[in-house]
Amino acid sequence: MSEVHVYPVPAEFASNAHINEQQYHAMYQQSVENPDQFWAEQAEQFLSWDQRWSKVSEYDFIKGEAAWFIDGKLNLTYNCIDRHLETRGDQTAIIWEGDDPADAKTISYRELHQQVCKLANVLKQRGVKKGDRVCIYIPMVVEAAYAMLACARIGAIHSVVFGGFSPEALKDRILNSDCQTLITADEGVRGGKSVPLKANADLALESCPNVHTVVTVQRTGGDIAWTEGRDIWYHEAVAEASDQCEPELMDAEDPLFILYTSGSTGQPKGVLHSTAGYLLQAAMTFKYTFDYQEGDIYWCTADVGWITGHSYSLYGPLANGATTLLFEGVPTYPDAARCWEICDKHQVNIFYTAPTAIRALMGVGDEFVTRTSRSSIKLLGTVGEPINPEAWEWYHRVVGEARCPIVDTWWQTETGAHMLTPLPGATALKPGSATRPFFGVQPILLDNDGNEITGAGEGNLAIKASWPSQIRSVYGDHQRMIDTYFSTYKGYYFTGDGARRDEDGYYWITGRVDDVLNVSGHRMGTAEVESALVLHDDVAEAAVVGYPHDIKGQGIYAYVTLMAGHQPSDQLLAELIQMCVQEIGPIAKPDLIQWAPGLPKTRSGKIMRRILRKVAANELELGDTSTLADPSVVDQLIENRLNK
Ligand code: WTA
Repeated sequence: MSEVHVYPVPAEFASNAHINEQQYHAMYQQSVENPDQFWAEQAEQFLSWDQRWSKVSEYDFIKGEAAWFIDGKLNLTYNCIDRHLETRGDQTAIIWEGDDPADAKTISYRELHQQVCKLANVLKQRGVKKGDRVCIYIPMVVEAAYAMLACARIGAIHSVVFGGFSPEALKDRILNSDCQTLITADEGVRGGKSVPLKANADLALESCPNVHTVVTVQRTGGDIAWTEGRDIWYHEAVAEASDQCEPELMDAEDPLFILYTSGSTGQPKGVLHSTAGYLLQAAMTFKYTFDYQEGDIYWCTADVGWITGHSYSLYGPLANGATTLLFEGVPTYPDAARCWEICDKHQVNIFYTAPTAIRALMGVGDEFVTRTSRSSIKLLGTVGEPINPEAWEWYHRVVGEARCPIVDTWWQTETGAHMLTPLPGATALKPGSATRPFFGVQPILLDNDGNEITGAGEGNLAIKASWPSQIRSVYGDHQRMIDTYFSTYKGYYFTGDGARRDEDGYYWITGRVDDVLNVSGHRMGTAEVESALVLHDDVAEAAVVGYPHDIKGQGIYAYVTLMAGHQPSDQLLAELIQMCVQEIGPIAKPDLIQWAPGLPKTRSGKIMRRILRKVAANELELGDTSTLADPSVVDQLIENRLNK
C-alpha cells in the first residue's frame, strides 16, 4: 500500500470549531460508557419536546427491536420550522436553484411554515390521517420539501420514491406500503430534458386501486392526462387552504418515513424510521460533521429521493435553523462549472456531494473549476461510496484550494445519519478513510466466523449497540429486518460492508461484501437487475455483478444465457437494456452484457459469483474452480469477456 498522506486539522478549525480533538475523545468516551445519559443531554439540547421521555433507550438486537426516548412527545415540523419563527422568520430556509441557471428563488422560514400548513390542510381535507402512507414521486422542486414536511405535520408517513424510478418500480413501492395518496409533478426538468412524472405515475396507478388522491405540482405546464375525482392540482388546492395547521402530537417512536432501498435478495425493502431518534441524530450530525455555524449557507447535492436528501438536504439543516440549497439540475448542465457557479452565486459555505460526481468533474478538466471563485466554501463533504484517494486529492487541492477539510461520511439508509465521519475541528484526515465513529456509534470488525478482530485488521463491519436514528423495521415484514441485519452475526447490526481499521483506529470502507451494487452512489441489488433481464422471453438465465468503473465506482456487468434456438443480436441487447429501464429505471442499465452459453455453477446448481466478479473485473487469477460442474464454461467466459 502506498504511503498515506495525513492532513492535519487546519488551525482555524481547531480553534473555532464546535468540537476539537480533545472534546471529541471526551464526548465519545462518555457516549459509549454512559449512552443513555449522553443521548438524554443531546435530546434536550437539540430538540423541543411537548412531553419528556420516561426512558432513554431500550433495544434487543436478537429481535431486531429498538426504541428511543420512550413516551416522549414532539412534532418534527415544530422542531424544523415553528420554533425558529420568532427569531428567524425572515431568514431564508431554502434556496432553490432551478435546472436553468436563470431560475432561482428563496423561501423564508415564515413562508415555509405557511406552505407546509397549507398542504397539510389539503391532505387532511382529502382524508389523510396520522399513520397513513403518502407516496411522494417528485423532482427537486421546493414542493418536495413542503410535501415531506406536510406529512410530518399531520403524522402521515411519507415514502419518497426517486423520480428516476420507472412506473413499474413506483407501483411496487406504492403497493408494498399501501400508499393511498400520491404527490407528484406534471414533469421534472433535469439537464434541459423533461421527465414525464405524471405520465409515469398514471401508468403505475393503473395497478393501484387504493390511491384516492393524486396531488400534482405544475412544474412545466406540459400536457398530462387527468383522472377526475382522483387528481387535483397542487396550486389550486393550496390556494384555497388555510395557512394555519396545528402540528399533530407525535410519539417519539411513531413512524416518520419509509424509504425503499436495495438488499442482496428480493425486492427493495421499505426501511422504516421513527421520529425523535432519527431527527436528533440528523440534527446533531449536521451541526458537528459540517461544523455548521450560524449563518452558513449549506448545499447537499443529493436528491430528496435518497436518504442523504432526507437527512441532509432537509431535516438536519432545518432542525438547526440553517439555510439549505436545493438544486433541481445536474452538475454538468449547462456545463461542468455549474456546481461552482452555484456556490459563487449563493455564497455556499459547505458543499456535500458524492464521489461519482467528483470523479466525473475531475475527468473534464480543472478549467471548469478554476474559472470560478469558490472563496465562500470552507468545508467539503462526500457520501455514498468509497472515494478513491486521487479523487479526494483533486477535490481537496483543486476545488478546495487546499484550505477546506473534506468530511468523508460513511452511513446508510438504515442508519439514518452519519456513523463514521471526521469532525473538521477534531480529526486529521487521510484521503479515502471515513476515519472515526460519530458519538455513540460502536463499530466492530468481525471475521467470517463472527470472531471480533481487534487492533488493525480487515473484516465485516458491524455495529455493537443501538443508536437513536437506526432503522426500526422493514415495513410490513419485521422478520426480514431480523434476517437481513441481525442474523448474520448474532447480537450485532450487520452493515453489509467490509472495512479495514488501521493502526490509528481509522476505518477504511472497502465496499459491499454482499450482492448489493453501488453504481454512482446508488444502491441496487444484483437480484433486481437479474429479475428484470429474465423477464425477456429469449432469456434463460442471467447473472449480474459489479465491476470497477472509473466514474461510477461500480458498473453493472450482466452475463446472459439465451433460450435454446435464440441468437444474440444488437436488437436483443437494446431490448434487454430497455427491460431494466422499464422494470427499475435508467440507473439500472447494464454497462456490459456478455452472452454466456453457460454460467459457472457448483454441482448443486449454485452460480459461483466469485468467478463472475473476477472475470468482469478482468482479474484472471480465479482460484479454485474444481468444485464447478463444468469447468470449461469458465474458459469460454474468459475468452469472450468484455472488460479487457
Ligand atoms: C456505501 C447512502 C464508502 C456503503 C448514505 C453503504 C460508503 C452504502 C460511504 C449505503 C462512504 C456510503 N464511504 N462507502 N463514505 N457512504 N457508502 O443506503 O457501501 O444509499 O453500505 O446510503 O453506501 O448506501 P445508501
